[in-house]
Amino acid sequence: MTLLLENQVAIITGAGRGIGAATAKLFASQGARVVVSDLDLAPAEEVVAAIKDAGGDALAVAGDVTDPAFPENVVKAAMDTYGKLNVLVNNAGYTWDGMLHKMSDKQFMAMLEVHNVAPFRMARAAAPFMRDAAKAERKEGKPPEPRCIVNVSSIAGLNGNTGQVNYSTAKSGVAGMTKTIAKEWGAFGIRCNAVAFGMIETRLTQDQEAGEKISMEGEEVQLGIPGHMKGLINMLIPMGRAGTPDEAAGAILMLASPYASYVTGHILEVTGGL
Ligand SMILES: NC(=O)c1ccc[n+]([C@@H]2O[C@H](COP(=O)([O-])OP(=O)(O)OC[C@H]3O[C@@H](n4cnc5c(N)ncnc54)[C@H](O)[C@@H]3O)[C@@H](O)[C@H]2O)c1
Repeated sequence: MTLLLENQVAIITGAGRGIGAATAKLFASQGARVVVSDLDLAPAEEVVAAIKDAGGDALAVAGDVTDPAFPENVVKAAMDTYGKLNVLVNNAGYTWDGMLHKMSDKQFMAMLEVHNVAPFRMARAAAPFMRDAAKAERKEGKPPEPRCIVNVSSIAGLNGNTGQVNYSTAKSGVAGMTKTIAKEWGAFGIRCNAVAFGMIETRLTQDQEAGEKISMEGEEVQLGIPGHMKGLINMLIPMGRAGTPDEAAGAILMLASPYASYVTGHILEVTGGL
């Protein structure tokens, strides 16, 4: 049986944990060689080890996706190791919640940096190996490689969310970027889609009281949502529960797979109906 991503190379940002880690493992199980990129090296290496134990191939690349030099470094690592690039998943991100009237510029801009500026730089760094490579293939009459970008958004970006004016604004921007890349690169056979997740079980949606933090911009940023809100949110989800990281990864694979070969510029809501 042919695997869905047979012989393809993927870069996944934020792949050390949560949705990105599940996506890296699923992509590898479908034949992709995966660049597992994350802020934190140790979890990225654990994902790579799990992929290798299962018979796959992967490479860990640590770094902050908001560092202007990082996108070119990670793309170079993919090219040096695997020689091509088929799929880019812009997944790295976090939340830094607060009400608008108390939000600092730094807190607002941090969300634009990680959810908008970094994916833009990643796509630009990938352009020579996706857009230009596809153009050259056409000129030479070679069969085209499958190529696509999947950006990770949120229903907060489609509907807004109390306490998340920074995150909602940024995740809304992901939709505009996705549709623009689809228009600019469609002529080269490169698709670009986004997945807007609802509530997926990761450290971003665990009880705030668990105390998980991310060190960013010189600050310890609290992750999670207030525990008492979770029952209420589950009641609002028609399927009555949060999604798992594996279910989230399935939607990303679906968009990257040949079954979505004519789907581009689409924002897929994966929310259990929320
Ligand atoms: N969990 C949800 O319910 C949900 C809903 C909608 C959207 N999302 C989005 O899904 C994506 C993945 O989040 P998750 O829920 O898996 O969270 P997670 O915290 O489990 O995983 C995110 C990973 O991204 C990495 N990361 C964060 N900032 C980074 C940076 N600047 N550079 C490099 N790596 C960085 C983290 O180290 C972490 O390993 C995010 O973009 C998030 O906004 C999540």
